[in-house]
Amino acid sequence: MRTKIVAGNWKMNTDIKEGVILASEIDSELKNITLPEDVKVIIAPPFTHIAFVEQVIDHKKILIAAQNCAAETEGAYTGEISAKMLKGMGSEAIILGHSERRAYYHETSETLVKKTEQVIQNEMIPIFCCGEKLEEREAGNHFNVVKNQISEALFHLSESDFSKIVIAYEPVWAIGTGVTASKEQAQEIHKFIRKTVADKYNQKIAGDLTILYGGSVKPGNARDIFSMPDVDGGLIGGAALNADNFIDIIKAII
Ligand code: PGA
Repeated sequence: MRTKIVAGNWKMNTDIKEGVILASEIDSELKNITLPEDVKVIIAPPFTHIAFVEQVIDHKKILIAAQNCAAETEGAYTGEISAKMLKGMGSEAIILGHSERRAYYHETSETLVKKTEQVIQNEMIPIFCCGEKLEEREAGNHFNVVKNQISEALFHLSESDFSKIVIAYEPVWAIGTGVTASKEQAQEIHKFIRKTVADKYNQKIAGDLTILYGGSVKPGNARDIFSMPDVDGGLIGGAALNADNFIDIIKAII
């Protein structure tokens, strides 16, 4: 069964108090909503908030994700936070390879191979981000860029490990810019991702794969984008920092 997901990436926003309030608001608004069995809601607060946020949410309705994890298991890696530590705090998923991490922290496919391994070993869901820059789209290169990102970081995985992956397609030009891909642009590349996965693995794995769209999703455009057959939900940045907006986006998928 293909799961639908609305995931909120809080990035480096809110202090602990604000984060706990935001999570509590989302939790209490969700109490009035019956989520279909195939819909998951995820919030990804900063590392520092996870242990606190975890205490104020209903885990049957909201899963916690971290926004990153270390590539190594443990040891002398000052400042790093391991997948195992995050699992111990209550994380059930980890966002990997967000374009901001690729751009500002030089995250490569090689690093992402290791991070994906850590997340899978610790039995969490890897939410693997991919997406092209504006100049790559303008050069007509977006299909290749996305295919390379996915194949370099994930295609060594066994069928059973690959089926644990969630992919988030996030065109860099649409992140935080207010510019959204049109629903046709999103559908076109999501369909391409599914075909690429079917060619590498098989139809069943490709059919069950959850592919999220991310990039300026708001309450006003979510329903339109989510209506496309290969778009299985969204990874939401800015609009996930307001409980009402985030809830409206969740309502758009149910
Ligand atoms: P945005 O961010 O919704 O603010 O564009 C999306 C993301 O970076 O995941």
